[in-house]
Amino acid sequence: MRLLSWISSFLLTAAFAAACSSPAPAPQAQATPPASTVSVDRGKYIVSTAGCHDCHTPMKMGPNGPEPDMTRALSGHPAEEKVEKGPALSGPWIAAVNSTGTAWSGPWGITYTANLTPDRNNGLGIWTEDMFMRAIREGKHMGTSRPILPPMPWQVYRNLTDDDLKSVFAYLKTLTPVANRVPDAIINEPKK
Ligand code: HEC
Repeated sequence: MRLLSWISSFLLTAAFAAACSSPAPAPQAQATPPASTVSVDRGKYIVSTAGCHDCHTPMKMGPNGPEPDMTRALSGHPAEEKVEKGPALSGPWIAAVNSTGTAWSGPWGITYTANLTPDRNNGLGIWTEDMFMRAIREGKHMGTSRPILPPMPWQVYRNLTDDDLKSVFAYLKTLTPVANRVPDAIINEPKK
């Protein structure tokens, strides 16, 4: 205990002394924060760490359980997987997801994860960067219309910087287009 408190008071004193002494010129690498730029690599990094594949890449059964089917990377809910009615849930359960991890049923209705590949008819092919930014920032379908429903976590991704979001869009535009037609969401009327 005595040793610990000695160490912490020593550290505090040292930190205080360092703060008061005239600043030594900091090495260049620390002085300037890394420049934030728009890049495909950065977009790829964000997509692969922010969980986009978890929902937008269909799952298939692998040796260790469900795994993302990267041959269909980010192509959204597969059109041939017909999931038009959610299961009846009871007790504490509030939502359900199908075996590909791309159709979600909950109080809002049924949502199908979007095709994020640049296919012109089924994906982001005709989207502009501005539409993408508004979709994520304002939670509006195609950047303008109905609210984007759960479980798409746009409320989290809206906190990414402009450069981050532009990088994500730039990366998505480099994907191989997949002609997968995702069904429209089935939206429940809000309870009065
Ligand atoms: C927890 C699951 C989940 C995660 C994680 C997720 N999404 Fe989604 N996303 C969805 C669902 C479900 C929809 C469809 C929602 C709807 O129809 O309202 C969707 C829709 C979208 C749309 C279309 C919005 C529109 O106009 O209708 C875009 C763009 C999108 N997601 C991008 C991303 C990106 C980029 C990431 C990663 C940074 C991501 N999503 C991560 C579930 C998810």
